[in-house]
Amino acid sequence: MIDFHSHILPGMDDGSSSPEESLAMLEMSAEQGVDHIFATSHFYADEEDPSSFLRRREQAVEELNAYLQEKKRGSILPQIHLGAEVYYFPGISDCEEIIPLALGDTGMILVEPPVMPFSTSMLDEIEEINEKLRLVPVMAHLDRYCRMLRDDSLFARMAQRRILVQVNASFFLHQDSAPFAMEMLKRGMFQLIGSDCHNMTNRLPNIGLAAAKIRENNLQKSLAFISENGYNVLTLR
Ligand SMILES: [Fe+2]
Repeated sequence: MIDFHSHILPGMDDGSSSPEESLAMLEMSAEQGVDHIFATSHFYADEEDPSSFLRRREQAVEELNAYLQEKKRGSILPQIHLGAEVYYFPGISDCEEIIPLALGDTGMILVEPPVMPFSTSMLDEIEEINEKLRLVPVMAHLDRYCRMLRDDSLFARMAQRRILVQVNASFFLHQDSAPFAMEMLKRGMFQLIGSDCHNMTNRLPNIGLAAAKIRENNLQKSLAFISENGYNVLTLR
């Protein structure tokens, strides 16, 4: 499986705090059947330039790779693809500097909207990323906004636009949200799944647990469809 959303790079944000924790997260992901993982560290345009973020990301990758070379105990780890979780800001669709923050070579970019009712102007601007930056925007963990804003219609709103949707694995794991998650899966209302794992304490890799839950609900065909599309995207370019 592919994990499209994670905070596995050490010291980049509120995710992994050390190469040691990153390795543990990667090993746990691999145990759950993840073979590709996107490192989507938080990017906040009001705090940092994209160029500085990219420099820090490169350093974090170097640090992690050096540690993995030294410590890897023969286990096969997921292949890491670089990306970012880009916090929405007005003007995002004109900001060419964020193009290198895209999800690897997929031509997609993960956008994190603020926690407030989605305005039409914000959605218009996110959609414009298609034309202006030639990247397909993906709304990060839409399930969280449905929960926090108490608005399940967000999935339908995204479906009317050229904005893809990523959901978190926890969507399928919480008793309260699981039935809605299964319904959205059945209806093909999202395209990507991510763990959004941050650490080895309270936000752990959990893609495999979600997959098991989906299978329990006899929706393995829907999961296979999503999964296959994910692999297609990896090899498109
Ligand atoms: Fe995240």
